[in-house]
Amino acid sequence: MDRQAIEKAADVLRQRMPASPAIGLILGSGLGVLADEIEEAVRIPYEEIPGFPVSTVEGHAGRLVYGRLEGATVVAMQGRFHYYEGYSLREVTFPVRVMKALGVRELIVTNAAGGVNERFQPGDLMVISDHINLLGTNPLIGPNDPELGPRFPDMTEAYSRRLRQLAKDAAARLGIRLHEGVYVANTGPSYETPAEIRMIRALGGDAVGMSTVPEVIVARHAGMEVLGISCISNLAAGMTDAPLHHDEVVETAERVKADFLRLVKAIVAELAK
Ligand code: HPA
Repeated sequence: MDRQAIEKAADVLRQRMPASPAIGLILGSGLGVLADEIEEAVRIPYEEIPGFPVSTVEGHAGRLVYGRLEGATVVAMQGRFHYYEGYSLREVTFPVRVMKALGVRELIVTNAAGGVNERFQPGDLMVISDHINLLGTNPLIGPNDPELGPRFPDMTEAYSRRLRQLAKDAAARLGIRLHEGVYVANTGPSYETPAEIRMIRALGGDAVGMSTVPEVIVARHAGMEVLGISCISNLAAGMTDAPLHHDEVVETAERVKADFLRLVKAIVAELAK
């Protein structure tokens, strides 16, 4: 049932993609500009892909962009689906299944996140070393199709050591400061309370956001290699006197997009070698 839906979407997309994409990108709030760098781009609105939900949040365009980036054939999600929008985690992660069916082996997942680590500043970038799932649910709950992946997937190295090192080397070469840390997923849509942020810090979290974890769980289930990059768009609740606002998240992403673009392009260029 699931597999049929995946194949149906993949079939529609294959008609429009001259070659199989090797690298997938999921672009977070304010980070969708990366898709504008893709050459020979084929832009496919989510409405045109059977089985895809339709994205609702501002700052998310809602289309797949296929083409060439730094010598690699890539497919990027410009706009993702969030649990807080009311989609099931199966719906949220459906595009990852479709990417896998198209041939994607390496998935680069990006997001805007609140900084929990006291050393972080808005505008910093963080490569995700690991995550903590506070969603209270999991996209793999329900019957497991062994053709898609194992019932009990290992999450020991959810975020590939190889890709993390590649990201750190690229950042060092480019003179971009890149933290490494643990991403914690909350459902949202309300931001955390200061007490929740203290809890997250005590649990070992460095950044907090409302996405990424479901997609990464499914990507690992499907056997993809994952790299995660967070743009620290704000300090988390209670760390400053200022209330949090989505506009700030998008504005900070806008401000750091030059470094973000340089970093991700350098990583893709390495992967294309
Ligand atoms: N909390 C949760 N999600 C976020 C934040 C935050 O502070 N900033 C950007 N996404």
